[in-house]
Order: sequence, then C-alpha cells, then structure tokens
Amino acid sequence: MNYQIDFIDSDKPQVTLKEGECLSEKLTIQNSPILFGCRIGICGTCAIEVVHTDSPLPEKTHDENEFLNAMAPDRKEVRLACQIRINTHMKIRKTEI
Ligand code: FES
Repeated sequence: MNYQIDFIDSDKPQVTLKEGECLSEKLTIQNSPILFGCRIGICGTCAIEVVHTDSPLPEKTHDENEFLNAMAPDRKEVRLACQIRINTHMKIRKTEI
C-alpha cells in the first residue's frame, strides 16, 4: 500500500511512500522541507507537526518518547520524522522544538 505525505506551508509537492518506509530514508532536502540530523531520535532537527492522518501513526519509539517528553511535553501533535515508519496518509508541517 502506498501513502501520501502532504507538506503544509511548503511549496514542495506531495510525496508517495510505501507502507513501512522510514521518512528519514525517503524525505530529502530536494523533495521535502523536513531536515534531518542524527536520524536516531536525539537531536530534534526533524521535528514535525502532524496536522492530519487518516489513521493513527505507529507508537513512538522509546527514544522519540523520551526526547519529546523532555523537549515538547505539551505538544502532542509533534513527532520526530526520523522515527516514523509510514502507515497512513499524513499532512505534516516542519516545526521547531
Ligand atoms: S534527525 Fe535527529 S531526532 Fe530526527
């Protein structure tokens, strides 16, 4: 199954990924506004605001949960793109934490 990612507040076109693909492996500076640093859930460079999904995203990994609880405890809509394996259509926006 393929899923679409739409970037809110960006002129980058929609990206289509296969189920289970990791955003950090498929999103690049050429095709998305999302930037990546460590890619292991400890730097926050890839923080995104999840504006809409058709179904719930996978649970946060241990590292993602720990990082977001420390850096953005009141922002439940924020996820680390590098820790997400896609399982739904999603609309996302780059954000800062
Ligand atoms: S790239 Fe560092 S937390 Fe995602």
